[in-house]
Amino acid sequence: MLPLLVEIISTSGPMPFDEFMERCLYDADDGFFSAGAVRPGAKGDFVTAPEVSPLFGELIARWANRVRGGAWATVEIGAGSGALLGPMIASMSETTTFAIERSRSARRIIREALPTVTVADSIVDVDASGAVVILNEVLDNVPAALVQRTDQSQKNEGWSEIAVGVDDGVLKLVDVPPRNAVVEWASRYLTDLPVGAMASVQIAAGKLIESIVEALDDVAICVIDYGGSTAELAGRSDADVVRTYRHQRSGFDYLTHPGQTDITVDVNTDAIVAIAERLGTQVEVMTQRDFLLSLGADEMLSELRTSEIALARRGDVMGQLRERSRGVELRALLDPPGFGSFKVITIVRKRDTMP
Ligand SMILES: C[S@@+](CC[C@H](N)C(=O)[O-])C[C@H]1O[C@@H](n2cnc3c(N)ncnc32)[C@H](O)[C@@H]1O
Repeated sequence: MLPLLVEIISTSGPMPFDEFMERCLYDADDGFFSAGAVRPGAKGDFVTAPEVSPLFGELIARWANRVRGGAWATVEIGAGSGALLGPMIASMSETTTFAIERSRSARRIIREALPTVTVADSIVDVDASGAVVILNEVLDNVPAALVQRTDQSQKNEGWSEIAVGVDDGVLKLVDVPPRNAVVEWASRYLTDLPVGAMASVQIAAGKLIESIVEALDDVAICVIDYGGSTAELAGRSDADVVRTYRHQRSGFDYLTHPGQTDITVDVNTDAIVAIAERLGTQVEVMTQRDFLLSLGADEMLSELRTSEIALARRGDVMGQLRERSRGVELRALLDPPGFGSFKVITIVRKRDTMP
């Protein structure tokens, strides 16, 4: 991919970061998610909550069962290996289930592992008027542009855009005049960003949420991801605005190895909340820890402990170890500095509760 990108950028000029990210992650032949093995998982490039424990899907099913109406479908966007969807639908009564995935290898694995799930191309292919829609660690992989705050008295309303250019055959981040849509988004959602700070501009992530709400009459979306408000994200270092993961490690250089690493940005929860509220939905933001506790994760931990003790008394060492490791996995999902700090945004619109 590198020689092709160098050629395109040398001929056409700097490439906006969202276009670069789109090619690196989703190019049909060489994109990180399109080509090769399915990426999440202990043997993959990074571990996500559903890959840590099936109890994650079971707890998400409790939320789905609380919010959904009778004939609603269940949809997972960016379903990866199906590690969330499998345990989730096993804990739900009758529901038609869809997985929407951009990754070819993930689509194949889902078809093999979950034959009752329909693999669809887009939310508009979901044949239901109401649906619960889950996006776990997906919005961070939706291509984003990059900006830097400049002095507001300067041109372009105080924004410059950061794109990918070429210098002596090597890819480099370069400043370019910002596109109008980027200035509009940044001015609306990145208020109070300090001069000199860098931030991601998540236009496509917002459009994905809009497309889900608009495709359905009744909808309950659960977005789970790392991220924070504009103020929280502004407090992080510029080096953290774009992160990479490969072979369970972060910090792989995406400019020297495009297409060979995950490229990800923290989700701007302020922007997603504002977009969802404009669509007339009810929105709540909380940490993953608080969300899972509200769904009974604590009681689940006590039950696992009780069952572990009972199995130990019976001399069932294997059973005891199984329950103990399930408890360890669940605690990892609640861990305050780890998965527990992820943000959950629930976005709900039900016709029967509308004024
Ligand atoms: C970090 S992985 C997470 C996979 C899974 N949700 C999990 O938690 O293990 C992100 C996945 O989202 C998929 N993805 C990103 N944008 C998407 C979109 N707009 N529609 C469908 N899938 C998407 C990618 O192909 C990738 O498989």
